[in-house]
Amino acid sequence: MRLVRIIGSPGLNMLDPFLLLDEFGSDNPDDYIGGFPDHPHRGFETVTYMLEGKFRHKDSTGNEGVLSDGGVQWMTAGSGVIHSEMPEQVDGRVRGFQLWVNLPSRLKMTSPSYQDIPAAKIPVVPVPGGNVRVISGSFRDSAGPGRSQTGMLYLDIRLDAESELDVPAPDGWNLFVYPYDGEGKGELLVYDKQGAVSLSGGKAGTRSLLVAGEPINEPVARAGPFVMNTRGELEKAFQDYQDGTLAG
Ligand code: CO
Repeated sequence: MRLVRIIGSPGLNMLDPFLLLDEFGSDNPDDYIGGFPDHPHRGFETVTYMLEGKFRHKDSTGNEGVLSDGGVQWMTAGSGVIHSEMPEQVDGRVRGFQLWVNLPSRLKMTSPSYQDIPAAKIPVVPVPGGNVRVISGSFRDSAGPGRSQTGMLYLDIRLDAESELDVPAPDGWNLFVYPYDGEGKGELLVYDKQGAVSLSGGKAGTRSLLVAGEPINEPVARAGPFVMNTRGELEKAFQDYQDGTLAG
């Protein structure tokens, strides 16, 4: 799968509680047909937002679903899942984002769960010169369907050229804006514990993800698909995976 790592790279290792943000996208089936075959996760949540395309998700707890255009799959890996994410299409375009959200130590070993959120369940709030899709948290009077284990706001914002929008966020939360089309495309903006932010459609108009979360402020020990608090817990995760006891 061809992807661009936006958070979780040497440039920005993490933005507490966000461990990783990947953008995946291609209109060449050779880039996505391999998908993500069976792999484990423990200790965090993955939030996959599919702008375009169809992927089938299957996991060790028996959950299965198809994620398609504008839909979100929210998986709380907790104590452990083994899952696959595979394309349900052989041609056409695929584009989306996967965000990893850390869990605090008290929830790292919580039971795995997942939410399948079709596009139709995501409220679209009109604003002057654009609109806001509320995936999680609240914007104005609309609450998003995505239930996070910790405080979080996840918006997809479209602004036409020259329009502006203020978005409030709780004081002390970390926030990022990632314009993925139009003005400022591909340039991550990071706001450290700042509260409200002002966005502008600029000269070209823009579509951006705006994601904010309450920092967890705990030590992070991560390796590959596991994110724990200590090295010992990481070693235990690898051992459990090897022993076949990671999931269930
Ligand atoms: Co995965």
